[in-house]
Amino acid sequence: MSRQTQAIIHANAITENFSVLQALAPQSKPMAVIKADAYGHGAVTVARLLRDQAVRFAVAIIEEAIALREAGITAPIVVLEGPHQPKECYLARQNDCVMVMHSEQQLQWASDCTDADRPAIWIKVDSGMHRLGFSLEDTPRVLNRYRHIISDESVLVTHLASADDLQSDFTQRQLQAFRKVSEDAGLPVSIANSPATIAWPQSRGDWNRLGVALFGSGPPLPEGAGALRPAMTLRSSVMALHAVPQGEAVGYGQMWTATRDSIIATVGIGYADGYPRHCPNGTPVMIKGQRAALVGRVSMDMITIDVTDIAGVKMGDRVELWGAHIPIDEVAAWAGSIGYELMTRVSARVPRIVRHD
Ligand SMILES: Cc1ncc(COP(=O)(O)O)c(C=O)c1O
Repeated sequence: MSRQTQAIIHANAITENFSVLQALAPQSKPMAVIKADAYGHGAVTVARLLRDQAVRFAVAIIEEAIALREAGITAPIVVLEGPHQPKECYLARQNDCVMVMHSEQQLQWASDCTDADRPAIWIKVDSGMHRLGFSLEDTPRVLNRYRHIISDESVLVTHLASADDLQSDFTQRQLQAFRKVSEDAGLPVSIANSPATIAWPQSRGDWNRLGVALFGSGPPLPEGAGALRPAMTLRSSVMALHAVPQGEAVGYGQMWTATRDSIIATVGIGYADGYPRHCPNGTPVMIKGQRAALVGRVSMDMITIDVTDIAGVKMGDRVELWGAHIPIDEVAAWAGSIGYELMTRVSARVPRIVRHD
């Protein structure tokens, strides 16, 4: 066995988080967004865990959907970016995928398909984020023009730019703008991602698209709705211990200098594993049930932590980088990033160990 650097995937946290989110929006159908390898947790693992709970799965691109099919996942899959090339329409139909169409070119590709090759489509509306989708003004024309490829399965979709900002009124503005178009269209709607499902009840539609909150990250749940549990513990262990005299610096670029005689533990994880290189001195880790601070620059395969105040640290001791004790969003804030980025960047070098606890 090599180093003890692992991402523990807490299976029960994922299924429980899903249930908690579903209970918040009982009128909506739940869809689990498992793009980017289920935000680093393993798309096939998560799809299997949620097999009996999620009515559908969503991914970003068709390749992700096909990988799920090859692993035996049979639930319908929504491809959020729709086709990038015409042949993806055919692939989507073959693989029972719904394509979310955001451009007229995509709709034309679907229109050009034979009836037997055409996938079910959803239509994406740009209600203010200005990333993908038809403008509010153009949507009625588009719906009319492509009426022949809109089916019972079709849904009008939009995405919220600031649902995680509870102080912003932009979500209300997007909701109002979208409501006007969707009422006229008379189609089912899908608006909410995780933060919106949690914090903006008016955004809960026919389908909610639940991503990051399945993995325990996101805004706090409403009073009495329970709590989300982190679905990943990223951990490693102490591989070296050094006494560093006061005045000596540690690591590349000498970014941290001991202000007292210190004990520094070297831990077997670095930016090549997905631990953010931007984490500065002071970023918390957990060792022997106590918080310790990252000191010195994150290397490719190692970090250094100050364990001077923690008694009895020895080689092989476990270190939690994030998980139940060190929230991933806290580490992300230190790194100037977000939990989403940290989860999705845990590299292939880190074994995922699925635990049912
Ligand atoms: C279009 C779309 N819907 C839903 C989601 C899921 O969002 P979240 O992870 O915030 O739940 C994403 C994620 O980026 C997305 O791009």
